[in-house]
Amino acid sequence: MASTKDWFETVNEAQWRAKKRLPRSVYLALLAASERGLTLSDNVAAFDELGWRPRVADLPGERDLSTTVLGHEISMPLMISPVGVQAVHPEGEVAVARAAAAEGTAMGLSAFGSKPIEEVAEANPLTFLQTYWVGSRDDILARAERGKAAGAKAFILTLDWSFASRRDWGSPPIPEKLDLKTMLKFAPEVIRKPRYLATYLQHRQLPELGVPNIGARDEEAPGFFEAYGKWMQTPPPTWEDLAWLVDQVDLPVVIKGVSRVDDARRSVDIGAAAISVSNHGGNNLDGTPGSIRSLPPIVEAVGDQLEILFDGGIRRGGDAVKAVALGARAVMIGRAYLWGMAANGEQGVKNVLSVMRSGIDEALLGLGRASVHDLTPDDVIAPAGFTRGPGEPAPAALAMAADPTTRQSPPTAHPEG
Ligand SMILES: Cc1cc2nc3c(=O)[nH]c(=O)nc-3n(C[C@H](O)[C@H](O)[C@H](O)COP(=O)(O)O)c2cc1C
Repeated sequence: MASTKDWFETVNEAQWRAKKRLPRSVYLALLAASERGLTLSDNVAAFDELGWRPRVADLPGERDLSTTVLGHEISMPLMISPVGVQAVHPEGEVAVARAAAAEGTAMGLSAFGSKPIEEVAEANPLTFLQTYWVGSRDDILARAERGKAAGAKAFILTLDWSFASRRDWGSPPIPEKLDLKTMLKFAPEVIRKPRYLATYLQHRQLPELGVPNIGARDEEAPGFFEAYGKWMQTPPPTWEDLAWLVDQVDLPVVIKGVSRVDDARRSVDIGAAAISVSNHGGNNLDGTPGSIRSLPPIVEAVGDQLEILFDGGIRRGGDAVKAVALGARAVMIGRAYLWGMAANGEQGVKNVLSVMRSGIDEALLGLGRASVHDLTPDDVIAPAGFTRGPGEPAPAALAMAADPTTRQSPPTAHPEG
């Protein structure tokens, strides 16, 4: 369906609308990435290197997109990745959760999200609560227990973070809190985006910068930077810490951020129920190859021992099908739904999910597959040297992007800007 005022036909169009609508700082905070943005670029570019092997006859008249994640049925192999969505839309993660529920899929809620797990799980009973390793073992266990009490169905532990904070195109300023002084500082940016401002005024609130899922249910939500500071001071977990947590938590645990075969194996050893093959959407160590390149060797090593989710660079339903064909149970999306929400709130998130669903269905039809469970690696064509297992060379895209003449690109030359 062609784009209209209230409908966008591609994620690319949603991104364009988000860029027009959001204050520049908020838009850049969503684009995120680190250093030169090499990994962010390769997350997307790697999907373009994968081709299809379509069929022409005996195509299935109807396709079944549904699958299960950790025993829960979802209507397609695509769900919401946990992402802090402060200041994008007043209804934040509750709107995202509602949209995901309406589209029959699962919601990932970030520990750095702006809405409490209780409200989000009420909006979508299939919510997975995510955290980083912030605070003591007991703090983290208490976070999981609070999630379980609220109805969360899984606990996602994201481990790929090294506090990289530099970007060649400049990092957006993020205020500590929204007091009058800060509002005046940001006023010129915000006033140039009247529709963004109007959405908040309609909801009679200002963008929230608190993180209510880090502490206990009744505690006042700490500010983003307070929680981030606590995280920076927390010693990174050992495998022993992780094994302890998996043993204590009364929820299936997903280890998110795995890009190495040995880490995937350790995740199996500690009893994780699933992993997400991921590089944090290119926000961690820049130069990590596109996430999809790491998937095949990990599937080969542990695919029969736990569920393998995938995230990073999904912009079309066809990308999800490529990942499932290469062995992912389901994919998670990040920026795509943030752009949808920025463009058109809850409807925008549903719009993104609907566009993804159509793309998945079209790919199944073209490939002659009646179900997502019938997909195999033979449905896609990968160039020689595509995957990134132990001992394999760096992708050409990373080598090309390292051309020093393009260094210090202005923000407009951001890989996805
Ligand atoms: C702005 C932003 C914030 C994010 N915040 C979190 C987070 O709080 N927790 C987490 O596990 N991952 C976080 N991620 C990573 C996503 O969950 C996901 O791994 C990534 O966005 C997938 O790549 P994609 O954006 O290309 O779909 C964040 C990503 C972005 C872009």
